[in-house]
Amino acid sequence: HDAVDVIRTKRDGGAVDEDALRWMVDAYTRGYVADSQMAAFAMAVLLNGMERDEIRVLTDAMIASGERMSFDGLGKPTVDKHSTGGVGDKITLPLAPLVASFGVAVPQLSGRGLGHTGGTLDKLESIPGWRAALTNEELFAQLQGVGAVVCAAGSGLAPADKKLYALRDVTGTVEAIPLIASSIMSKKIAEGTDSLVLDVKFGSGAFMKDVDRARELARTMVALGTDSGVSTTALLTDMNTPLGLAIGNANEVRESVEVLAGGGPADVVELTVALAREMLTLAGHPDADVEDALADGRAMDSWRAMIRAQGGDPDAALPEPCESHTVTAPASGFVTRLEALPFGVAAWRLGAGRARAEDPVVHSAGIDLHVKPGDEVTAGQPLFTLVGEDAARFDRALDALEGAWELGADAPETAPLVLERIT
Ligand code: URA
Repeated sequence: HDAVDVIRTKRDGGAVDEDALRWMVDAYTRGYVADSQMAAFAMAVLLNGMERDEIRVLTDAMIASGERMSFDGLGKPTVDKHSTGGVGDKITLPLAPLVASFGVAVPQLSGRGLGHTGGTLDKLESIPGWRAALTNEELFAQLQGVGAVVCAAGSGLAPADKKLYALRDVTGTVEAIPLIASSIMSKKIAEGTDSLVLDVKFGSGAFMKDVDRARELARTMVALGTDSGVSTTALLTDMNTPLGLAIGNANEVRESVEVLAGGGPADVVELTVALAREMLTLAGHPDADVEDALADGRAMDSWRAMIRAQGGDPDAALPEPCESHTVTAPASGFVTRLEALPFGVAAWRLGAGRARAEDPVVHSAGIDLHVKPGDEVTAGQPLFTLVGEDAARFDRALDALEGAWELGADAPETAPLVLERIT
């Protein structure tokens, strides 16, 4: 095979045959196909797309580049959730222990934040003592016992994707649906979960701003999972407004614990419950009393066991910010808009996120919202508070929030949080 032939085929709108595509991925992973060639190929895919069969082969080739885990022998069903990423998206934190409280194993292999979307591991690392790195043996034992695990994905899963994703990041080729779908699904299929629920987000704070593209991504991923024997469903959910009231790390853990205690913001509860129902249905518990498990402490017990199993102290105080700045309503009216992307960018600038993969995050930094769209406010009432360790960062965060929120005379129309279910 020849990389230039593969690139030309895709450049001219053709379909690359199975052998050639498998060879391309393998040769790239080993370093025989150059970054420049893979970048040209990725751009051709972005511009010309891929057929369903090509996407399946690409995904399979990326799985074959690394190890494939198996949870056979665990004696209970496994189900995982993947979110395409958003602002204030801490749903994994209450969701994994909630689902595990029904005797299902939840291997939630997660990542760190990059850019304006936060990372689940960064959030949990605000809990003193908690560690993200587990060996495969520890992972297995914890799934067997506690049931819920949120840990770092080992570097052995889909190494081809790791290399390709970094290349796409610097060549303007992240946004191609075949590449996103194969990237996400190669890791999830290699992980060995029996079933998978995808939270595919659309709107300002999402990868896919446009709902039609989000739907196409969801359909592509559901087909990939199903074709590989992983029962997969997806929810298409609104990411125009931050989820919940906390955007950051430690504050998102606090909010998650509120949900596990039976309280918490309505949107976080709604999405947690909706995703838990999907996961439990796939795992054979369609009638699980999900809300009761939040209300009666079963989910909380499962959370505490999960945190302890990974060295964390569920009762320890979380890092508190030493600096804060509150923005108040300049006039009375309704909150009509609170846009996810700029709030995510502002939290990132405060230190909640990182610019380079090796940077640390500031666990206490972020934004606490006091209102949500639809709320009525009076002049002078607090709208949101920037928090962190370094007041010098507030100006740049406030710059990002210029035009990010709006007050009006009338209550805004409300949009559903969960727009569609895709099977
Ligand atoms: N997340 C991934 O893992 N891969 C992508 O391509 C996009 C988001």
